[in-house]
Amino acid sequence: MRGTVLKLWPEIEWIEDPELREQTLQTWIRAFELSPLTPRDLLEIPFTLLIPGCKVSFMSHKRVVVHIARKAAQAMQEFFGDSLPINLDTVIAGAILADVGKLLEYEKVDGQARQSQRGKHLRHPFTGVSLAMMCGVPDPVCHIIAAHAAEGDLVKRSTEAFIVHHADFMAYEPFKNLGAK
Ligand SMILES: [Fe+2]
Repeated sequence: MRGTVLKLWPEIEWIEDPELREQTLQTWIRAFELSPLTPRDLLEIPFTLLIPGCKVSFMSHKRVVVHIARKAAQAMQEFFGDSLPINLDTVIAGAILADVGKLLEYEKVDGQARQSQRGKHLRHPFTGVSLAMMCGVPDPVCHIIAAHAAEGDLVKRSTEAFIVHHADFMAYEPFKNLGAK
């Protein structure tokens, strides 16, 4: 499973701190152990169930969010320097883990992914934090998982969480236009 996750997520190698890199990898491995979904499913199921007919896969969306978040953080570091401290490892690990809880939010029925009963009770920001804490992921990264989606609008987001939140939404909200009449 280790090799499979690293193939699915080459961006894990971007995390410089070896401990955080391992914790991030272990969280994804644990999620697959507990999930009805397989790594192959993530290459096939749509990234959101909220947009009917969406053709973008779960992995394509998750990976683009990590790429956007990293590049945004680097641009901010370049222009703001010490005026706005940003931990790049935290941004990258947080972006990689933001949706790991979806592995416990979804189930597969007749080959289609849908929200499970557990997912209705606990959306992925909650199950994601649970998985990450089990694997020793530090609090600033768990904070990103907790606050990346709409639930986080009630939370005072860290700089790193703002970056991942906006990267996630800019890669999601334009798709709503495609469904608009
Ligand atoms: Fe999410």
